[in-house]
Amino acid sequence: MISEAKNYQPHYLNRIQIIACGTSLHAAMVGKYIIEDFTGIAVDVEPSSEYIYRKTVTNSNTLVIGASQSGETADTITAIRQAKEKGAHALIITNRPDSSMARYADSLIPVNAGIEISVAATKSYTAQLLAFYLLAIKLAETKNTLSKEFLRNLKHELIQIPVKLEKILSHKEDIQKVAKKFANHRNFIFIARGINLATALEGALKLKEISYINATGYAAGELKHGPIAMLDDTMPVLSIL
Ligand code: F6R
Repeated sequence: MISEAKNYQPHYLNRIQIIACGTSLHAAMVGKYIIEDFTGIAVDVEPSSEYIYRKTVTNSNTLVIGASQSGETADTITAIRQAKEKGAHALIITNRPDSSMARYADSLIPVNAGIEISVAATKSYTAQLLAFYLLAIKLAETKNTLSKEFLRNLKHELIQIPVKLEKILSHKEDIQKVAKKFANHRNFIFIARGINLATALEGALKLKEISYINATGYAAGELKHGPIAMLDDTMPVLSIL
């Protein structure tokens, strides 16, 4: 559900900035990819902790989207406050519609993933991706930038996600076998291209957080520009296609 926007004049919108941290930043990268792809609106993505320490070009023609699982991340709250002071419209995508960040929202998209109990954001990441898809679809429908057939097929695919996830989880034993094989490695590289780059970065973040294995994510084409020096038969490279 997208709540009613206060004082919003969509025809003035000429730019979107998405600000977030950690896993939410990776969801934001997917958001940028699909909003630009579906609508042609320019979107920037920036870590909140960078946004708040520089002179940003944010004004009343900017839609600033704050993405946060908890809605309590200090850097993102500060960024949203700064953006609002410059006249931007603040759209908050959060798993906690009762959070501090939600209180700054001019528009709110709750992701409804349920409480994250462990430290790592997992199900809320998937739900944030869905929220960005719904936003991008709605923008495309409003701006009439995609064919009805494309949108119908996309919605059909999105509805299939739970079934697709069940299918992946049915390979639990194979996944466990691979995990055991690599459990003692100290380092990992994740690579991907395009929309999957965010998945590579998120995979590397999760491996660090959960397994304490050092992992780095790269755009696949960047591997040859330096990181290739680290490759030998002890370095697993996980490629997402
Ligand atoms: C990763 C993780 C952190 C958070 C980050 C932002 O699993 O939990 O990287 O994603 O601290 O938190 P939120 O999304 O609550 O603003």
